[in-house]
Amino acid sequence: MEVFAPGRVNLIGDHTDHQGGLVLPIAIDLGTTIVGAPSGDRVRFRSGDEEGIVDMRLGGSSPPAGGPEWGRYIAAIVELVRPTEGFVGTISTTLPLGRGLSSSAALEVSVTLALGFDGSPVELARLCQRSEYLAVGVSCGIMDQLASAAGVADHALLIDCHETSVTPVPMPESVDVLVVDSGERRSLTKTAYNERLAECARAAEVVGPLRFLPDVAGIGDPVVRRRARHVVTEIGRVGAFVDALRAGDNQGAGALMVESHESLRTDFEVSTPRLDALVEDLLVAPGIYGARLTGAGFGGSVVALAARGAPLPRGAIRVRASTGARVTAGRTGPLP
Ligand code: GLA
Repeated sequence: MEVFAPGRVNLIGDHTDHQGGLVLPIAIDLGTTIVGAPSGDRVRFRSGDEEGIVDMRLGGSSPPAGGPEWGRYIAAIVELVRPTEGFVGTISTTLPLGRGLSSSAALEVSVTLALGFDGSPVELARLCQRSEYLAVGVSCGIMDQLASAAGVADHALLIDCHETSVTPVPMPESVDVLVVDSGERRSLTKTAYNERLAECARAAEVVGPLRFLPDVAGIGDPVVRRRARHVVTEIGRVGAFVDALRAGDNQGAGALMVESHESLRTDFEVSTPRLDALVEDLLVAPGIYGARLTGAGFGGSVVALAARGAPLPRGAIRVRASTGARVTAGRTGPLP
């Protein structure tokens, strides 16, 4: 059996999913592959890229002590899927780890499929979202797991994170999506991410759910007000970005990405000097419409929208909007 789950890059709409807002990621042509077979009463994964083996008995809920870090994700998935049969396989990935391209979501989704889960993409994403909390204590939104589960080739995914609905939006043929890895591995993410969630919750206590785009001026605490302003303006930018793409207005879409980065930098405060410098460098490179940090921030990667075929700036790679997670051999066909 062979399973593939892609990573994702978010074009616009960061730190809106946890408030039930809009996001616009693409599943990309980099991801995680598992090759193996159902077997016995143990779940045993070897990493094809890094040191390490995770070997646990079915029904166990914690990874064996001393194993690799990623064992926590396997244990969380095993706990949630509760497979009746074990699995032996090798995991390999083309995604850089911890760099804002959802390597952990790709791991969760691929392991869940390997263990025989056969629900819908939304059910798959929900289970994997829960596993992230069990594994590392991050109360993440659903964007990363749903992008990996529900990707559509050559389309971005407009996700309403309250309804959990996915609307594929065609990517214009006139653009390329570029990604630049900052080299900064996100480390403070858990604490800072959960802190931002708490700040958004405080805002919602005053003005109601942020997904309804309330007027945030009445929020007394200036930090909480800025966090809320980011969420509300960012949700608006997602809608405007989709309109710009549909109208063929690549310049307009790029300008919205620049605004998004500025809002993430000043209001939500999740950028770093390195990410800011990368965005600035990209914006003066030929053929770039816009650039912004992508994902949680605190390091990770920058995404840019470029004219198709524009010269690749230093360190940039081109990614393509790709199909979501699938069993590629052994039980072929799309997810139900
Ligand atoms: C991380 C989380 C997502 C989302 C982004 C920020 O990637 O896993 O749910 O909140 O940060 O948009």
